[in-house]
Amino acid sequence: MADRNSCIGVFDSGVGGVGTLAALRRELPSERFLFYGDTANAPYGTKTRDEVMACVSRIMAHLLEQDVKAVVIACNTATAVAAAELRAKYALPIIGIEPALKPAHELRRQGSILVLATPMTLKLEKFRALYERYGEGAIPLPCPGLMELVEREADEEARRYLLELFSPYDLTKVDAVVLGCTHYVFLRPLLRQILPPNVEVLDGNLGTARQLRRVLAANDLLADGDGSVTLETSGDPQIVLPVMQRLMEKELSDLN
Ligand code: DGL
Repeated sequence: MADRNSCIGVFDSGVGGVGTLAALRRELPSERFLFYGDTANAPYGTKTRDEVMACVSRIMAHLLEQDVKAVVIACNTATAVAAAELRAKYALPIIGIEPALKPAHELRRQGSILVLATPMTLKLEKFRALYERYGEGAIPLPCPGLMELVEREADEEARRYLLELFSPYDLTKVDAVVLGCTHYVFLRPLLRQILPPNVEVLDGNLGTARQLRRVLAANDLLADGDGSVTLETSGDPQIVLPVMQRLMEKELSDLN
């Protein structure tokens, strides 16, 4: 039976969610986190809904076996596909992540907002509803293949990908770039080199961490022990775990 000092399960299709995990760890240092990256089945963003749902169901079963007290879906694609269904099925708190279009809308001046996300995220009802409300001036840009470059830490290829992606747009007329996939958060340094300095680069990690705190507090589930992080992957642990570790430490030091 899960209690306030049980782990919080966090998952993503791969290494991207460790950026979210870093924000969670910083916001809630007393919590124990169990992170699962589904690298063997990545990418999710170009699969069918049913395929993504099957991956998510397997991960949920695994996390529930570890008696987690709450789950954070550190993946915009899996949130869009599965969050509503999982909340209907399970009683424990389930927190998702979505593209930070609302904060982008709030800071928008007269320019456009480029929303980078997987083809699946941009196609589903959840994003359509967000776009209806906050989409003025927003241009959705599906980025198939980009998460793979983050998984491989292929910075030079990612730079070429982004330059090509932005080539139709006058970047001096852009107010914000929304990183609507948790993998893309690790492209921030590259984006900062490519984008004019006044363009805001937004992600959903901090908002998700704050939401988790609110939900745990409301359910009387905030831990009072020593926090910890355990990393797991469906990929080759020898290859993937060092990448996760490196990315998480980098993100933690950037957050400080
Ligand atoms: N990290 C995921 C997201 O936030 C998806 C990447 C993928 O598996 O395509 O959308």
